[in-house]
Amino acid sequence: MRTIAVMNQKGGCGKTTTIVNLAGCLAHEGHRVLVVDMDPQAHATLGLGIDPEDVSENIYEVLCEEPGEGPGLDEIVVNASEHLNVAPSGVILSALEQKLGSESSSGRTERLAVAVERLPKPYDFVLIDCPPNVGVLTFNALRAAQEVIIPLETSYYAMHGVAKLLETIALLEDRLGHELRVRLLPTLFDGRTRFAKRALTEIRETYKDLVFDTVIRHNVRLREAAQRGVTIAKLDRRSYGFVDYMSLALEVLFDEEQRRESEITVPALTPEPEPETAGDKGVVFALKNKDAEAVQLAGDFNNWVPDAGVETRRSADGTWEKVVRLGPGVYQYRYFIDGEWQPDPSNPRRVEGPAGGINSVLIIS
Ligand SMILES: Nc1ncnc2c1ncn2[C@@H]1O[C@H](COP(=O)(O)OP(=O)(O)OP(=O)(O)O)[C@@H](O)[C@H]1O
Ligand SMILES: [Mg+2]
Repeated sequence: MRTIAVMNQKGGCGKTTTIVNLAGCLAHEGHRVLVVDMDPQAHATLGLGIDPEDVSENIYEVLCEEPGEGPGLDEIVVNASEHLNVAPSGVILSALEQKLGSESSSGRTERLAVAVERLPKPYDFVLIDCPPNVGVLTFNALRAAQEVIIPLETSYYAMHGVAKLLETIALLEDRLGHELRVRLLPTLFDGRTRFAKRALTEIRETYKDLVFDTVIRHNVRLREAAQRGVTIAKLDRRSYGFVDYMSLALEVLFDEEQRRESEITVPALTPEPEPETAGDKGVVFALKNKDAEAVQLAGDFNNWVPDAGVETRRSADGTWEKVVRLGPGVYQYRYFIDGEWQPDPSNPRRVEGPAGGINSVLIIS
């Protein structure tokens, strides 16, 4: 189980959007995900289609008592969609900030960590959304997490406060005696502005390997998804929002070694075209195999029907070229070579398919 907190004291930089849609994309890939909403604004809860007013107990009840005295995290969890549960928040959580803030007990920043440890049901990922301040709720989230994602809006002030935030986290690591893997995620990127491009360059030059390869572009569909209380994986899998968050999900899924070895396809940093103009492109899949008698291509783009909608070309050196017209999106596929399913040997980006076996992944932005 990996526990990841998404934090930044700066408001509106895309924390909740990242929590909800990273959760949606990981769940879409078949991983079991729990979102823990630690923000009294309850935007993650709402973004996953749960009205905080409709739930009888929320994360407040879990955290306001000493461990073991209140309900367990699993007892207040609500199902949002397949593979995706949420521990909801509510406005009462702001009272906890004050209550725990005035307590001197050393356990007051450990309550969430204990609650996560005691989860009886295994999740693959626990994703914790933080409020826009570094108070006792955020400290609880950092104690519980092994990894931290800091979304940075790629604006004029992108870098403001980041150094201080990294210092705070380092300080906490010292006190915790546990390391946090911290990564920065450029968000709300608008390639049409000079500011955004400059901010992205500055972030990459300053923080280098700490920065995800993925950049989350500005995409109105993400805002619409939030308003409708669904993840982008449910609303629109052809949107840039889905492409970018799926790219993030895959980057999170890759372990270090794979990350270093592989060439990750990063969505191109082009201005977002109007939806009508984002037409399908002819994509060429090339496989060199002299001995094969029949090479077919199947993926979610053709409902896994080998060679449906695929144009085949063969060259004299034994290369099979498969041409498919695809719009922006994240696609899984495999070759069907002389009756056997195989992932693409030239593509290092792979995931376990929902029906078992290994699929190759292609991102078109
Ligand atoms: N990539 C994006 N494209 C378009 N809109 C976005 C994107 N990311 C976030 N937004 C919108 O920007 C607003 C702020 O985003 P979000 O709520 O995720 O930020 P936050 O950091 O969680 O804010 P807070 O600090 O208040 O918790 C929301 O209306 C959200 O829908
Ligand atoms: Mg938020």
